[in-house]
Amino acid sequence: MSKILGIGNCVLDIILSINDYPAEDSEVRANKKTLQVGGNVANTLYALSQLKHEVAICTTFATDDQAKWITKTLQERGINTEFTQKFIQGATPTSYINLSQSNGSRTIVHYRDLPEVSFDFFAKIEIEDFDWLHFEGRNLEHLPGMLNIAKTFLTHQPISLEVEKDRIGIDAILTQANVIFFSHHFAKQRGFKDGAECLKAMRQAAPQAHLICTWGENGAWFSSPNQTVNHHPAQQIKVIDSLGAGDVFNAGVINALAAGKALAYAVKDGSDLAARKCQQIGLDNLLAPLAVKKPIANFKQLSNAKTLVVKALGQKHGVVLIKYEDEVRAYVNNCPHQDVPLTEAYKIDVNPFEKTMKCSVHDAFFKIDDGECVEGPCLNDYLQSLEVTLEENGDIYLND
Ligand code: FRU
Repeated sequence: MSKILGIGNCVLDIILSINDYPAEDSEVRANKKTLQVGGNVANTLYALSQLKHEVAICTTFATDDQAKWITKTLQERGINTEFTQKFIQGATPTSYINLSQSNGSRTIVHYRDLPEVSFDFFAKIEIEDFDWLHFEGRNLEHLPGMLNIAKTFLTHQPISLEVEKDRIGIDAILTQANVIFFSHHFAKQRGFKDGAECLKAMRQAAPQAHLICTWGENGAWFSSPNQTVNHHPAQQIKVIDSLGAGDVFNAGVINALAAGKALAYAVKDGSDLAARKCQQIGLDNLLAPLAVKKPIANFKQLSNAKTLVVKALGQKHGVVLIKYEDEVRAYVNNCPHQDVPLTEAYKIDVNPFEKTMKCSVHDAFFKIDDGECVEGPCLNDYLQSLEVTLEENGDIYLND
C-alpha cells in the first residue's frame, strides 16, 4: 500500500447514453443520463483507492452545490479531499459526454472557468508524507514550480506525469518526472503515426523517465531509460464504456511500479485493468469479477403470433417478449390496470392482424408496437416497455 497524492482537476461528468454518436445538427433521444465525478486524476485515484492505496487529491473546488456533491462522492470513493483549494469565482468544471452504446466511444465537450491549483497552495502541502505524486500535465502556469519543489524536497518518491494534450511549455517539464504517460491524442497532435514513433522522439526530452504511450485498441508502447521501445497489444474485447479507461490504465501502471514490478509487467497490469474497465459502465468495483451477462432469449424463439414470457433479473413476474416486424418488443409482465401479471389467469392472447395482445385478467388489449392499451379498463395506459439488445446471433439481452 502506498500513499499517493494526485494533482489535477475534478469534473462533473454529465453522461448521456445514446445508441450511436449523432450527426451534426441532428436531434436524438438519449437512453440514460448519469452524473459522475470525473477528471483524469480523480479517476486514477479512484482506481488506486480500489487497489487499496491511501490516496489524496490536490485540486480546486467552486463553492456551488455540485462541488459539495463531488466532495462527498470523492470521500465515499476513499479519496482524501483535505488538499482542495476553494474559489469563489468560477463554477464546477463540467464535461458533457456522449457515450455511444454501439461501440463504447465517449465524446467529451468540456467547459471550465474555475482556476487551477496555485503554486502557493501546493507548496504548503507536506509532500514528503507521500510515497508517490501523480500530476496531470496541465496548468502550465504553476506546474513547473510545483514539479520543481517536488524534485527538490522528495528524495526517493517517484513522480508520474500524464500528458494528455500538447501544451505550450510541456517539453520543458518532462525532465522532472520518473514516469510519463503520453496519450495517443498528444502523439497525433505531434504528428506521430504510432506510439513507437512518439516515444523515440520524446526520449530526447526525457532521458531519465519510464515512457508510455497508450493508443486504445492498438495497445501501448513503452520504454525505460536506455532501452528500446516495446509494444503491448490490447485485449480484444467488446467495449461498453471507454470513459476514463486511460486514467484507469495509469492507475494499474502506478500500482505495479509502486510494488516494484518492471515496466513491461506494469504496462500489462495497466492494460488489463483498462480492458476490465471498458467492459463495464463506470468505474465502480473494478476488481470484482466481470458480471457475465446472459441472454434472456433468442430471436428464433419468438413469433408474431404468441408471446414468450421469460425470467430476468430484477423482474418479479418476468418479461413479455414478442416479435414486432423484424424487431423485438419487451414489456414488464404487469398490467397497468390492477398491477397483476398479464399471465395471471391464462396466457396472453395475441391478435397478429390487429397487432394487439390481451391481458388474461380483465381483457385489456395492448398494441404490440408500443404497449398502449387500446381497449379495456386501462384505456390509453401503457405497459412498461424494456430496452433490449438483439445481437447478430439472435441473442436478446436486457439493457441495464
Ligand atoms: C476522462 C475524463 C472525464 C472528464 C474529462 C476531462 O478521462 O477525466 O472524467 O470529464 O476526461 O478532460
